[in-house]
Amino acid sequence: MTPAHPAREHTGRPVRVAVVGLGWAGRTIWLPRLRQHPAFEVVAVVDPSERARTEAVSDAPGARSFAGLDGLSATAVDLAVIAVPNHLHAEVASRLLAEGTPVFVEKPVCLDSDEAARLARAEASGGAVLLSGSAARHRADVRALSELTASLGPVRHIEVAWIRARGVPDAGGWFTRRTLAGGGALVDLGWHLLDTALPLVGDGIGFDQVVGTVSGDFLGSAGSGAAWRHSAPEDRAPGDLGDVEDTARGFLVADNGVSVALRASWASHERHDVTLVRVEGAAGTATLRCTFGFSPNREGGSRLTLTRDGRTEPVPVADEPIGAEYVRQLDELPRLLADPAVRGRAVAEVRLTIGAIERLYQSARNAGRQAVPAGHGAH
Ligand SMILES: NC(=O)c1ccc[n+]([C@@H]2O[C@H](COP(=O)([O-])OP(=O)(O)OC[C@H]3O[C@@H](n4cnc5c(N)ncnc54)[C@H](O)[C@@H]3O)[C@@H](O)[C@H]2O)c1
Repeated sequence: MTPAHPAREHTGRPVRVAVVGLGWAGRTIWLPRLRQHPAFEVVAVVDPSERARTEAVSDAPGARSFAGLDGLSATAVDLAVIAVPNHLHAEVASRLLAEGTPVFVEKPVCLDSDEAARLARAEASGGAVLLSGSAARHRADVRALSELTASLGPVRHIEVAWIRARGVPDAGGWFTRRTLAGGGALVDLGWHLLDTALPLVGDGIGFDQVVGTVSGDFLGSAGSGAAWRHSAPEDRAPGDLGDVEDTARGFLVADNGVSVALRASWASHERHDVTLVRVEGAAGTATLRCTFGFSPNREGGSRLTLTRDGRTEPVPVADEPIGAEYVRQLDELPRLLADPAVRGRAVAEVRLTIGAIERLYQSARNAGRQAVPAGHGAH
């Protein structure tokens, strides 16, 4: 197929965007920031829900509204932002890519390695770029940590953890159903954590070994939901809270010998929602303690420290409003869209990320088989 846009030149006019999926992410994260950003113009919104479309159009006057993808054309749209439920990411993105429309796909970009391969094929055949990535990399504190890492000597170990006190998204909805979400806290928060860890491990470096466990001790607990999201629709069956994990723990060893400890929890016994990124190098340890995402239950500002020879020093980090990283992510998109060398890059990272997630789940399934019930251990 002839690419509709072999290499879209940066024309100077705003990037014409379609937002596909007008739920919490589409309407809270994407639409307001796209509307306020001078480099973008929202020209279309897509969602099968009439109510979601009506509300979105009132937020984005002038945008055309469609119930499905048929109304979108690669000549009228420079970028489609895909914020549909997880199981539809690969299907929607592959179709648009094959038609020549560039896409930015929300995390998790796909649910398994077969879907990643399908996306790679669609990107190659349609000639349009697939962009993705967690906004966490664009946080000022994560950037400061990355810069500090250069002074740590060879990196030996990275710890990434996102532990919410309460933050199960929409229990009983698609988020907590394995067939629709692909998994629980690991695909949801863990995707952001892997996205943060990968550049610290080293560009393009995959994982040689992956083990992990999962648990679901909080899914059904009253008050463990994510209060900042919309409440669950009334059609949820009472007590039907899903079949995914609320916590995943993993240990990964990269091809270059760097180890990564990962913990992703939608809920826990903690008081606040905390994210930790620690990089241990031969010449020191850098530690960032902050809160990723939009939760209001935060500990306070970001704290970055450098520990060396028995001394821990604070490293200044700029305070920024919640969600500033999403604006910085938008700042980058016009340049990425105009650069033909970017094609294939996101899919290559997606393959590493989903490969690690698949292997962690596989390890957790094996661990479950050998679990000894409490009270039945060997004496
Ligand atoms: N980057 C982040 O920080 C972040 C935060 C929240 C959610 N997300 C991601 O965004 C995606 C959406 O999450 P959400 O919380 O908005 O879910 P949601 O359930 O609130 O919204 C999903 C929307 O997609 C619509 N939809 C379903 N099928 C569609 C189709 N074929 N075409 C167009 N629209 C369709 C639904 O009607 C609904 O309005 C998820 O993949 C999630 O992981 C990312």
